[in-house]
Amino acid sequence: MKDEYDHDSILENLHTSWLGRELLFFRETGSTNDELKQRAADGAKEGLVAAADIQSKGKGRKGREWTTPEGVNIAMSYLLRPDIPPDSAPMITLVMALAAAKGIREVSALDVKIKWPNDIVMNGKKLAGILTEMTAEQGHIGEVIVGTGINVNAASLPDEIKDKATSIFMESGKICSRAKVAAAVTDAFEGYYATFLKDGDLRGLREEYNASCVNVNAGVRVLDPAGEYDGTAHGIDERGELIVTKEDGSEERIYAGEVSVRGIYGYV
Ligand code: BTN
Repeated sequence: MKDEYDHDSILENLHTSWLGRELLFFRETGSTNDELKQRAADGAKEGLVAAADIQSKGKGRKGREWTTPEGVNIAMSYLLRPDIPPDSAPMITLVMALAAAKGIREVSALDVKIKWPNDIVMNGKKLAGILTEMTAEQGHIGEVIVGTGINVNAASLPDEIKDKATSIFMESGKICSRAKVAAAVTDAFEGYYATFLKDGDLRGLREEYNASCVNVNAGVRVLDPAGEYDGTAHGIDERGELIVTKEDGSEERIYAGEVSVRGIYGYV
């Protein structure tokens, strides 16, 4: 079955009021984040969305590559111009994780989870990732570009990631409409983002995030550049920091930019 995925099929499924009402669709591009960065510099408005079938230079976190081959996955980015302090911007990544999990769940019926701060996982493997990029000058945000890559109908994955990554198709055995997933994720983001902007933090979303998060009452290895340690994670606080009790009983709040976490025995 061919999965129809283009500008019109995404718009037909979209129910937002502002996000994605201006939508760029690329059969192939380097990176949807870079497309929006360029347009943002030219003055594009908040709400512009870029989606692509193929990304030839897709970017992952920590300078890694992100593969988006022809015909199977979602690469999609949002241009945002929030009036918030720059140090609040990383919380948008967690808002995006919540939206990606909700949208994927609605369309695929898979009970996907969030691995703090922003990986979407299923059965211990990564199914989607998020890369947020921001410009700020003199204490003000210029723009935030939040990009999501979702493995939808990929039947196989590159050797280097196949042990720890998966796709909707690999988990469910069913071809899933990318247009429906892209639209459902975008619908969900618009709603969660409004709550985040109203509160200025994640207090209104924290409970829902933690209900989806694998790092709740779970062992974690904290990969802190100042020294790794093991502990028990208890989900996020209202700033999106992961609450961890160390083995000596003391509590740490982990800020996503500096450190990452692993399960004690593996990736999740
Ligand atoms: C990660 O490493 O987990 C983040 C992956 C983010 C990939 C997405 S695909 C759409 C957007 N454009 C990019 O170049 N990267 C992000």
